[in-house]
Amino acid sequence: MAARKREATKVEKHNGISWLIMNRPEKRNAMSPQLHYEMDETLAELETDPDTKVVVITGAGGNFSAGQDLRLFFRAMEKDPAGRKRSQEAANRWRWERLYNYDKPTIAMVHGYCVGGAFMQLLATDFAIAAEDAVFSLSEVNWGILPGALVSKVVADMVLPRHALYYACLGDPFDGKEAARIGMINYAVPKANLEDEVVKLAEKLMKKSPAVLKATKQAVRQVRTMDFWQSYDYLAAKGQAIKVGDNEDSYNTGLRQFLDEKSYKPTFEPFKLGTLVTHQTKKK
Ligand code: COA
Repeated sequence: MAARKREATKVEKHNGISWLIMNRPEKRNAMSPQLHYEMDETLAELETDPDTKVVVITGAGGNFSAGQDLRLFFRAMEKDPAGRKRSQEAANRWRWERLYNYDKPTIAMVHGYCVGGAFMQLLATDFAIAAEDAVFSLSEVNWGILPGALVSKVVADMVLPRHALYYACLGDPFDGKEAARIGMINYAVPKANLEDEVVKLAEKLMKKSPAVLKATKQAVRQVRTMDFWQSYDYLAAKGQAIKVGDNEDSYNTGLRQFLDEKSYKPTFEPFKLGTLVTHQTKKK
């Protein structure tokens, strides 16, 4: 199938980081059906792209996203049930199914507005850093709908119930510092430092074993809804599963570098990648 022409998104790749940018700045990156299709397809591509180690989701023109496009995603689709179904499926797939289960680490970089439906991708990413003056708003109550798709659910899962009810029922805007205080993002930084802070986090993530990092994020997400007995069992199986297809043989490499070579301290830093001792290298 021919690749879709990119009209509402763009991708920039630098040193292992792929910046996936919602790109409708004149509409504050409101999410149209076209934007959803492009985000869905591009995330699928980047997941297996060897040059992509970390994906950053952000928006062009100084804003993250003003949420669903009220004209193109809502009103226009009312008379087009097939288009509505197709675009809803794509919207949910990239903002939740793909990002929540993504093989590679993901970071949301939030500046300017982050409104309504944009909370899905905000909360599905593994990490989120915002500018202190970013403006978050669960605006749905202000224009007559519920925080739909999964927004109510993921907000309720992420923050304490009082915060979830307060911001969903009031629809009041709040800034990056407040988003960090209530646990919606990891931290807020001055706008001038935002990109540098995101790169710093991405670089730390790229120093970890990709196989162990992927399994760790999956494990932390999965055990939330398991009981203790299921968690014991799942984590033991997952621990074994990491070893299959781990190009770094992380467990043995990590032990070797600490116990035999004394070249790092796991309390403070990861073992060095790319030093696998294979049967072949041993023989030389
Ligand atoms: N859907 C459709 N169009 C949107 C939009 C949205 N969610 N958000 C912004 N736009 C459009 C505006 O209609 C305007 O289009 P126009 O230039 O053709 O008139 C353009 O983007 C710029 O928006 P404007 O309101 O003039 O910019 P602003 O910087 O003064 O305000 C917001 C920005 C985000 C505060 C304001 O546009 C807003 O409240 N948008 C709605 C956000 C929302 O409730 N989203 C929830 C959807 S689930």
